Amino acid sequence: MKNLRGTFDLLPNQLIKWQNIENIIKDQLYRSSVKEIRTPILEMTDLFTRGIGENTDVVSKEMYTFKDRGDRSCTLRPEGTASVARALINSGLSIKPQQKLWYMGPMFRYERPQAGRQRQFHQFGVEFIGYESYRSDVEIIALAWDILQKLGINDLNLELNSLGDNNDRKNYQKSFLNWLEKKYSYLDLDSQKRVNKNPMRILDTKNKDTIRILKEAPRLIDFLSDNSFERYSQIKDQLRFLRIPFEENFNLVRGLDYYTHTAFEITSGLLGSQATVCGGGRYDDLIKLMGGNKTPAIGFAIGLERLMLLADKEYERDRLVDTYIINKGLIAEKFAIDLSRRLRDLDFITELDISSASFSKQFKKANRLKAKSVIIIGDEEATKKEFLIRLFHENDYDNKEQKISFEDYLGLEKWLKTNLKNDPQG
Ligand code: HAM
Repeated sequence: MKNLRGTFDLLPNQLIKWQNIENIIKDQLYRSSVKEIRTPILEMTDLFTRGIGENTDVVSKEMYTFKDRGDRSCTLRPEGTASVARALINSGLSIKPQQKLWYMGPMFRYERPQAGRQRQFHQFGVEFIGYESYRSDVEIIALAWDILQKLGINDLNLELNSLGDNNDRKNYQKSFLNWLEKKYSYLDLDSQKRVNKNPMRILDTKNKDTIRILKEAPRLIDFLSDNSFERYSQIKDQLRFLRIPFEENFNLVRGLDYYTHTAFEITSGLLGSQATVCGGGRYDDLIKLMGGNKTPAIGFAIGLERLMLLADKEYERDRLVDTYIINKGLIAEKFAIDLSRRLRDLDFITELDISSASFSKQFKKANRLKAKSVIIIGDEEATKKEFLIRLFHENDYDNKEQKISFEDYLGLEKWLKTNLKNDPQG
């Protein structure tokens, strides 16, 4: 049996890096007072059609949509923002109090798989709901930037644009459509198809000839109202004050229809053609569009697979086992299980050998894991209610061993704490 194209298993050795990175992200979110929200992976199709926009690539070409047994059209979520908005409307929380939320989990898009692009991928996202001030835009961008820095990812470019409000965009579209009509025959086929459906997306084309022609197109930034322009300028000023480097990209429109004002992406030159690790922006009209009260909001999402490609090898290192319990014999094995539970209770990372293999084989296994210490229990020791403990040193276990009584848990805890602390492996 094969897995579906574009989906992947995450095996234990890959998950070490994954979890180390997740922990850093979660710690930073905790320190930033952002709270977790979890929404269903499966939603009504209408949520995304309305929320993301019918003419976007995501909705028109990439959704995993099917009928359930009750004949309802369901979709595996292609992103998290629309679901968070729905959850807040349903629970009556969309206006007050203001909310800073995060989520992490699988998303699904039927795209052509390649490095950094999958059909089931994972996002970690943050949404600030109910925040209007330009300062929330700055905090969101800084949060994304700082998490990537904390993970030691350099070589990043932050691209920034403002899409203005509805009115600004209406004015712009009129002028842009006028221009497009004149240039229609020079556009690539894909862009021609977009003229009537979703003209702004043409700005995001990858076609080199169209990109060249677009250099002369009217720019959305020139159609911003005074208020929109002022807002955009404040964000740029504050980012400069924080020394977060950015570049303006007036063609940055993002692939989802809900954006207003700020749009941003963080890309890395190390990712090849799928260079965007983080995408986000403001979506002041989405919650109202979905039946809630008018609620300003802004957020971003980071693709975890792309983050894995960028993060250092250092995160692949697992924590070492504090003590590996070697045991053999009917009486010894009983005591060994008991001891392993008590050690975990004392917060030591413990591995209990349940192979009943020879002592030397169990020693080899402990050595392969570089367990910081081994506890050895044979029937002889167990009958005397004792066990032996040895420390790992350089590349083997010391011959010097400590005898400890099964009843003396305090003594064991003290011994491990002192000796493991002194251990150069840390
Ligand atoms: P997005 O730009 O569609 O935005 O996706 C965000 C990130 O998810 C991308 O930058 C990329 O790292 C990752 N990603 C997207 N598609 C794939 C794929 N097929 N394979 C691997 N990674 C992928 C959103 O989804 C918005 N909901 C972000 C947002 C939150 N805006 C406001 N709040």
